[in-house]
Amino acid sequence: MEQELIKKTEAFVKKELQHAEGGHDWFHIERVYKNSLLIAKTENVNHLIVALSALLHDIADSKFHDGNESIGPEKAENFLRTLHLDQTYIDHIVQIIKNISFKGGNFQPNFHSAELEVVQDADRLDAIGAIGIARTFNYGGFKNRKIYDPEVKPQLNMTKEAYKKSEAPTINHFYEKLLLLKDRMNTETGKKLAQKRHDFMVDYLNQFYSEWNGTV
Ligand code: ADP
Ligand code: NI
Repeated sequence: MEQELIKKTEAFVKKELQHAEGGHDWFHIERVYKNSLLIAKTENVNHLIVALSALLHDIADSKFHDGNESIGPEKAENFLRTLHLDQTYIDHIVQIIKNISFKGGNFQPNFHSAELEVVQDADRLDAIGAIGIARTFNYGGFKNRKIYDPEVKPQLNMTKEAYKKSEAPTINHFYEKLLLLKDRMNTETGKKLAQKRHDFMVDYLNQFYSEWNGTV
């Protein structure tokens, strides 16, 4: 029964994300889904809620919908109704989708649950390390941003609005988000996996500046 709900959700998400940008496509969802299940193993959580939230968490990202933050949760809710899922489950999954995102990191979330913690960690893991680097430059290219500009300094403590509007060079995103994530992991498994990916990004940036400056 649960397996059937998951299969139906996978099919729905695959179809919805057919033309998505490469960092927010079905493969991102698949990685987040797998990492969510891995992290959930050692957490006391409802596995169906974790699985469906992971699958639906980026169903209509506001970045790709003129900043509209309600399309994603609404789409997810309408779809979940077709599965005839319990309303308490639907409400919980929709809350997770509304609260999972980083958005500059300087806003107060208004919902909390162990299931949110698991899926948020899995989503954050996919934002760092080798995959995180690839997704970040892909997004920068998609938005026609510069790779790096030494004149444009990273902005910490941006409001949610400023974070969303930022057109800064892609390297700045490492300082504005990616390097901050390891200290924001919720679960022990998440923390462990994040440290390794974090160290890889630090090495990457050192190499990047050496090559930029012609010192290697
Ligand atoms: P969140 O809402 O949690 O920040 P996003 O969906 O915005 O999550 O980010 C997912 C990934 O998209 C980031 O980890 C990064 O790879 C890419 N991304 C988002 N915003 C930017 C940006 N301004 N510059 C480069 N990459 C970005
Ligand atoms: Ni995501």
